[in-house]
Amino acid sequence: MSQAPLVANTRVALDAVLDSLEAGVVHAVVPTMGALHEGHATLIRAARQHVGAAGLVTVTIFVNPTQFSANEDFDRYPRTLQADIDLCAASGADVVFAPAVSEVYPTGATEVTVHPGPLGDVLEGAVRPGHFQGVLTVVNKLFNLTCADVGFFGEKDYQQLILIRHMVRDLSMSVEVVGVPTVREPDGLAMSSRNRYLDSADRGQAELVPRAISAGSAVAQRGGSSDDVIAEVQRFFDPHLIEVDYVVVTDPELGPAPVAGEGRLVVAVRVGSVRLLDNSPIQLGAPA
Ligand code: PAJ
Repeated sequence: MSQAPLVANTRVALDAVLDSLEAGVVHAVVPTMGALHEGHATLIRAARQHVGAAGLVTVTIFVNPTQFSANEDFDRYPRTLQADIDLCAASGADVVFAPAVSEVYPTGATEVTVHPGPLGDVLEGAVRPGHFQGVLTVVNKLFNLTCADVGFFGEKDYQQLILIRHMVRDLSMSVEVVGVPTVREPDGLAMSSRNRYLDSADRGQAELVPRAISAGSAVAQRGGSSDDVIAEVQRFFDPHLIEVDYVVVTDPELGPAPVAGEGRLVVAVRVGSVRLLDNSPIQLGAPA
């Protein structure tokens, strides 16, 4: 299982792999920006499980400049290619596609982009204008470059997952999108490539995020309203130590919260210079 994956850095090298495949081989693709951790490994294993031993699993590793704005961490985003390749090998990937920026954007910034629509302007989109346009454009490119049949994405970035599903639906793309539940540290913190920037004091604050979400879910379970859930979550955060970007309750598609039924609790905070995103399904409405 831990056989070294084939590493392709160019479109030509990737095409050679794809051309050598027998007809009918199902191709699962796991798009990432590298700095891989157990969350990514879980996506890769899910992809392998989905396509079976006869299928092809490709992990793309590409820190996409167009989804970072000028004041964000594109330059200091962690780049750990050799460790990433090792993790891909151990998780069952066949191919790692790790192109340079010039390979993905040979003419510079694209003229044609994928516009996310109104859902791209709220929550993460409100805090990071243009972010989802960059994400959808590069995911579309990566699907095309890899000729993906199925793409794997984490629920950790829930708005991203929903927008990718919308892109595939609205643009009639022939790619299946599979969402994978969030993988967490033992204390519940959602794994993230950016967690390595938390110092120990910040790490202590960060673990309040999953605790707050669990407490909010419990309030919903007891029949509390969306407002009660939000108030419970906010109660965990000391404004001197954690800056809350948003705490919302929505329906599973990130639309308005239902009074009763399935909902989603979505949280984004800043601890020091690190933004933490987390979310969870919740059940709204009076208990039976
Ligand atoms: P990146 O942050 O590297 O994440 C790659 C994939 O791993 C995403 O689908 C993300 O949701 C998933 N992931 C990250 N942490 C996870 C966790 N703790 N549990 C489960 N899944 C997790 O998201 C991106 O890259 C980029 O925006 C990308 C889609 C590659 C486009 O550039």
